[in-house]
Amino acid sequence: MSLLFCILAFFLGSIPWGYLIGKAKGIDLRKTGSGNIGATNVMRVIGKKEALITLLLDIAKGIIPVVILKFSSYGENEILPGAVGFFAILGHCFTPFLKFKGGKGVATSIGVLLAYMPLAGLITVFIWIITVKISRISSLGALVSFALLPLNVIIINYPKEFLFFAWLFTILIYSRHISNIKRLIKGTEPRIGEKK
Ligand code: G3P
Repeated sequence: MSLLFCILAFFLGSIPWGYLIGKAKGIDLRKTGSGNIGATNVMRVIGKKEALITLLLDIAKGIIPVVILKFSSYGENEILPGAVGFFAILGHCFTPFLKFKGGKGVATSIGVLLAYMPLAGLITVFIWIITVKISRISSLGALVSFALLPLNVIIINYPKEFLFFAWLFTILIYSRHISNIKRLIKGTEPRIGEKK
């Protein structure tokens, strides 16, 4: 049964909302801007309203499976919501609908965090907002907020299982941002509002 939850979460996470919203406008996000299918690239290439819709739908992909699991008979389990959330993020990052080349997992991870460890999720969102307000660089917001996630989990004193998943999410986010990290080092990462 728990495996079924993970599989369903993977397929829910696989729905490439940004890509579909781009397609509806006749744009293939994979071929424009950063090439990513996430809200940042939707904003860069299409517009703010579409980016907000993408962001909310991608966050929902993380929240929904974890909340459903929490209301199931597995609700008391501390590991399973993290595992199900991780599969939703994997679905987003490696969607079979786009030949396993999906997004960077930030919005879906935030959705998982908000449902699985809400305080750590809210702090992550807060750090993301502050970093982006100062730098105007979306990827830097993700990198800073997720670098601090394991520390947040330790400070909040969540169970050790949560720390394991915090590290897992952070490692996955970093592995999906390698091209952004290279651009940040070179100083060529576009700021919000700049075309790429
Ligand atoms: O959420 C993705 C963001 O961190 C970076 O997006 O399009 O600038 O690579 P992008």
